[in-house]
Amino acid sequence: MAYELILLEMADGIATISVNRPKALNALNPQVVEEIGAALKEIGANPEVRVAILTGTGDKAFVAGADIGSMAQMTALEAKRFSAAGQEVLLAMESAEFPIIAAVNGFALGGGTEIAMACDFIYASENAKFGQPEINLGIIPGFGGTQRLARLVGKGWARELCLTGAIISAQEAKEIGLVNKVFPHDQLLAEARKTAKLIASKGRAALRAIKHTVNRGYDVDLRNGCAMEVDAFAIAFTSPDAKEGLNAFLEKRKPEFKAGL
Ligand code: CAA
Repeated sequence: MAYELILLEMADGIATISVNRPKALNALNPQVVEEIGAALKEIGANPEVRVAILTGTGDKAFVAGADIGSMAQMTALEAKRFSAAGQEVLLAMESAEFPIIAAVNGFALGGGTEIAMACDFIYASENAKFGQPEINLGIIPGFGGTQRLARLVGKGWARELCLTGAIISAQEAKEIGLVNKVFPHDQLLAEARKTAKLIASKGRAALRAIKHTVNRGYDVDLRNGCAMEVDAFAIAFTSPDAKEGLNAFLEKRKPEFKAGL
């Protein structure tokens, strides 16, 4: 598919999606949301790709939220469709067969924080800013902010951020557990690629099983989560990667996991 508002690059087992509306600080309008959904499908269909990075073009913004101009025109029914379409794409990110790293290179507000939270983990540059400022527009988060934020950082911080619309720095986001690591701005993408490369060297079946077991298990009680892990553990043994990884250790050599499994 030809994309207009995102860039998609796939090389060396790593896909990079860049939201590409720098003049609107990469705000998410319905077309961007649709294009991200299409990119996920394209990446998923490429057996060479094992991991993805989501970032924004330009130095200022990752994603400054849902597009306020588009939302100002919406009826309640259109807003419902927009929210539902966004939720579907973010859920597709979570259920994608490949891990996704958010490389947050600037403002990640509203839908920006929300889409970053749908990634597997978040790296941020020193100038990144996070928040759910929808309250200042008289609306509420619509791409999962009230749900994922509470799950990631706890209900107290989720309530404070959503109720006040406060904007927090990358460092503060790291302190509350929203962000894993903070890097100097010019090193962010290289650091995200370094971690992506490390992940890409692992077995695809095991990556998929870990992502799905963490995500699905998080929403159920511990006993059921552990039962999911038992099944996923057994299924991992059906992959040639398991034989390769276990034997490579015993033979004191580096494992070579094959693409496409
Ligand atoms: N939607 C549409 N356009 C946006 C935008 C957004 N979310 N954020 C920024 N822009 C546009 C501005 O309108 C401006 O366009 P023009 O040059 O054509 O006027 C351009 O991007 C640059 O922005 P600013 O001039 O405002 O830049 P700044 O440095 O002064 O401020 C900012 C940066 C603090 C991020 C500010 O732009 C801002 O507050 N943006 C809105 C953030 C926000 O409220 N996001 C939540 C949206 S609601 C949501 O996301 C709902 C949901 O959950 C689905």
